[in-house]
Amino acid sequence: RRVVVLISGNGSNLQALLDAQQHDELGGEIVAVISNQGDAYGLIRAKEAGVDSVVLPHREYDDREAYDRALIKVIDRHTPDLIVLAGFMRILTPTFVHRYAGRMLNIHPSLLPDYPGLDTHSRALADGVSEHGASVHFVTEELDGGPVALQAALRVDPDATAEQVIEKVHAREHLIYPIAVRWFLEGRLRLGAEGAQFDGMPL
Ligand code: GRF
Repeated sequence: RRVVVLISGNGSNLQALLDAQQHDELGGEIVAVISNQGDAYGLIRAKEAGVDSVVLPHREYDDREAYDRALIKVIDRHTPDLIVLAGFMRILTPTFVHRYAGRMLNIHPSLLPDYPGLDTHSRALADGVSEHGASVHFVTEELDGGPVALQAALRVDPDATAEQVIEKVHAREHLIYPIAVRWFLEGRLRLGAEGAQFDGMPL
């Protein structure tokens, strides 16, 4: 089973997936890493793991449609079973989302449906939440709005600093993303008409 990972930056989630693969725990192979940013540190991680990478700078395209069309071409060259968004900081066109419907996952640093969008940690902390976390979800047209597949929650200590909370959420992300990818590749996790399913049970 073949996986293409899309990144824009640090790629710590990509690293977690690469590590899982190295331990034969991913259930498939990361065949390519694609970044819209040429200086993404994740590209170095891919290189060190011996995985092909492609830089596709969005600035070289007239509009979102043109960019996403080019992205589809690059992705499809690798004939993936699953597209994994790992800190890919782009809003996707409906054309793109539909092409990979039911086979594209994203990870988001909040307990969705709470706090979609950016700056989740500062908003959650400003609200004084007692729980925060990370979610893996299927990608649909609605930004961070697709059916949730797997979440990890953590208690927020009232004295915790923003940095501590961010670090904990990241650690949870690295824990759950490889699991969700594995379940998908094993055919256990899927997107049905009614939402995400695990072993045929609605989530
Ligand atoms: C993560 O917090 C993820 O939830 C969000 O973007 C960040 C990417 O971090 N979508 P990294 O590049 O994987 O380190």
